Amino acid sequence: MELRDKVAIITGASSGIGQGVAVALAEAGMKLVLTARRKKLLDELAAKLPTEAAVVAGDIADPALPQKLIDTAVETFGSCDVVFNNAGVMIVGKAQEIDIEAVCRMVRVNVEAVYRLAILAMRHMIDQGSGYLINTSSILGTKVRETTGAYAGTKYAVEALTEDLRMQAAGTGVRVCALEPGLVETHLQDHFPVHPRDSLNIKQLVQPADIGRTVRFMLEQPDHVAVPRILVMPADQGM
Ligand SMILES: NC(=O)c1ccc[n+]([C@@H]2O[C@H](COP(=O)([O-])OP(=O)(O)OC[C@H]3O[C@@H](n4cnc5c(N)ncnc54)[C@H](OP(=O)(O)O)[C@@H]3O)[C@@H](O)[C@H]2O)c1
Repeated sequence: MELRDKVAIITGASSGIGQGVAVALAEAGMKLVLTARRKKLLDELAAKLPTEAAVVAGDIADPALPQKLIDTAVETFGSCDVVFNNAGVMIVGKAQEIDIEAVCRMVRVNVEAVYRLAILAMRHMIDQGSGYLINTSSILGTKVRETTGAYAGTKYAVEALTEDLRMQAAGTGVRVCALEPGLVETHLQDHFPVHPRDSLNIKQLVQPADIGRTVRFMLEQPDHVAVPRILVMPADQGM
């Protein structure tokens, strides 16, 4: 895909991976619709990007937001070519301690909201005859570690829908991908008493800019090449 002047929606753009991907796609000349709850961070990001960006602040678990994002892309920039469906949270812990309500809120953000945006994006892109949907899964969308089962389950759910949508997209001009990061240096793991970097003895984590470069690589493949899954992890992450 030639990225210049194409339009991408990025969820979770106020921080971490979403921010890294926003910078990489803006450097490739794409116009962006940025969303997350923290408007100030989105405004600051939009102000420093080299291309145009529209900010739509909101809670991605609001059922009305996914359609609003697609409408904003089309009304502001004329199309919706890429959806980077990325916002997510991580709640982990032992059964005796884990906050069940927080687990259920995680399911709403990591599964319900991701499903809503993915399905609406598919409808739009299939009608359009082109587009690229990337859902952020995780290495934990492919395996479970003790205490991470509820989070991993949300990512397994993302993997299942992504694989189905990939099959539905075949022959339509639309491509669908699950992005599976290993440990990336963001705020996602801030709640761990011992950061996984230390417990897994990883010297250097993947950076959000590395994920940005990876997403750009996927999008820049020619029309006949799909990258349905991509696992990106620190070189010294053993599991
Ligand atoms: N970091 C890793 O090692 C890693 C590994 C595998 C997969 N992932 C996945 O990568 C994605 C991005 O995470 P990250 O690592 O970049 O973490 P992060 O730095 O904590 O960023 C999370 C983003 O999601 C947004 N978000 C969270 N809840 C939201 C809500 N209810 N409504 C709207 N936006 C919401 C946050 O924005 P606001 O707080 O401003 O709303 C923020 O922009 C997640 O899906 C995560 O599961 C991360």
